[in-house]
Amino acid sequence: MSTLKLNLDADLENRLANTLYIAKAKVALRSLASKTCAGSEYTGWFGWPKLSGFKLLKDIEQHYRNNPVSYDCVVLVGIGGSYAGTKACEMALNHTYAQEVTSPYKSIYYLGHHLSELGTLELLEVLRFKNPLVVVVSKSGTTMEPSLAFRFIKAYLQSRYPQEGYKDRVIAITEFSEKSSLKTMADSEGYASFEIPKDVGGRYSVLTAVGMVPLFYAGYPVADLMAGADSFFAGLENDESIQDPVFKHAAVRRLVWDEGKTVDILAVGEPKLAGFVEWWKQLFGESEGKSNKGLLPSSVIYPTDLHSMGQYLQEGKDQMLETFLRFEACANPEFGSIEKRLKVPYLAGDFDRFGYLAGKDIASINASALEAAQFAHAQRGIPCPEVVVSRLDAFSLGFLFSYFQTVCAVSAILLELNPFDQPGVEAYKKRMYQLLDQKSALNSFEARTELV
Ligand code: PA5
Repeated sequence: MSTLKLNLDADLENRLANTLYIAKAKVALRSLASKTCAGSEYTGWFGWPKLSGFKLLKDIEQHYRNNPVSYDCVVLVGIGGSYAGTKACEMALNHTYAQEVTSPYKSIYYLGHHLSELGTLELLEVLRFKNPLVVVVSKSGTTMEPSLAFRFIKAYLQSRYPQEGYKDRVIAITEFSEKSSLKTMADSEGYASFEIPKDVGGRYSVLTAVGMVPLFYAGYPVADLMAGADSFFAGLENDESIQDPVFKHAAVRRLVWDEGKTVDILAVGEPKLAGFVEWWKQLFGESEGKSNKGLLPSSVIYPTDLHSMGQYLQEGKDQMLETFLRFEACANPEFGSIEKRLKVPYLAGDFDRFGYLAGKDIASINASALEAAQFAHAQRGIPCPEVVVSRLDAFSLGFLFSYFQTVCAVSAILLELNPFDQPGVEAYKKRMYQLLDQKSALNSFEARTELV
């Protein structure tokens, strides 16, 4: 079982106690649960495991059994919420050097989250030696980056698996609506498809088919992810040890906003969380960054970033909240119990003068580095709430996805925002399409004149 604790120092607790934000967070959560908050038509993720999540896992497994296909890797085509959660799980749970060792999981390759020619060519090169299953994910089914990436992948599949055979290698995940070009294409081409529910937005969708299909096909323990999420939502109904951190965490974010903070930095001590912090940034950035409000989400991975961003955090502009996320144990039981784990070796001559650390395990030294950073930053006045989770595994990740989604939604409601829309992303698209249209008009003009 995962347990999550939120630790606040006494000063932050006191400042919070002088506000009404915890009480307001309770009201906000009720409005979320009863679907009366702003954007309530996008709250389908709330309580998702029991509502549809467990059934979805059965459907995926049945599809897998009924449609056998031989593959050795998964290509995930998607951007934003359509890939960030999968990548977070893959990076956290798989061996860092998975391609060099025997991993229980199949590789997941990503495309559609960039427009890099090099990145695309390099992946296509890798795929020459692979038998991929392609999962193309887009809630709207109209996003340019994954649409173009899928064109490349489709051309590759058709050259590699001639005739109709390539179609068994494609699974489309999208909203089942006539607005989704991806759904129209899947139906017309005969690709399998899974639905993204209308009432679940991209950045809240990791536990829907968006994350569950690619992760299942790559062999990840999706049932544990779902069980972790379920345990969060079950606890949220009546377990104070789960409710209180949500209320307090959202209330702290609102309090520090009043106090003039403008940035929330998620600090972790584990490089395997590099994908998770990106997922977290998208969640908070798109949910709260609107109407000239919202803490700018940022992240650091310690101790690496103590040697780059540490200076700013210690003495830079006083505008930060720093949220520490700490795990008490690591994920991979194969590496043995804590007694057997990596201890600092004895060095004859003690040239580096770290002999006093010989025999100490590296995990506890890492924990000390994180604790020291938290102490030093708190000393200079940065509010440093700390989220502590028992271990880094699939269950905890499912729990954490749901925890942060709920904290984020409540926090946005406390800022009087709709957590689930993203009106701002249209501005660049409008200009980009103008530019591309102009260019394509020009190109076709040049092509025509060349022909003449
Ligand atoms: O959270 C969101 O809604 C967005 O970030 C989307 O996930 C992102 O824009 C990708 O959209 P789509 O899944 O429609 O291709």
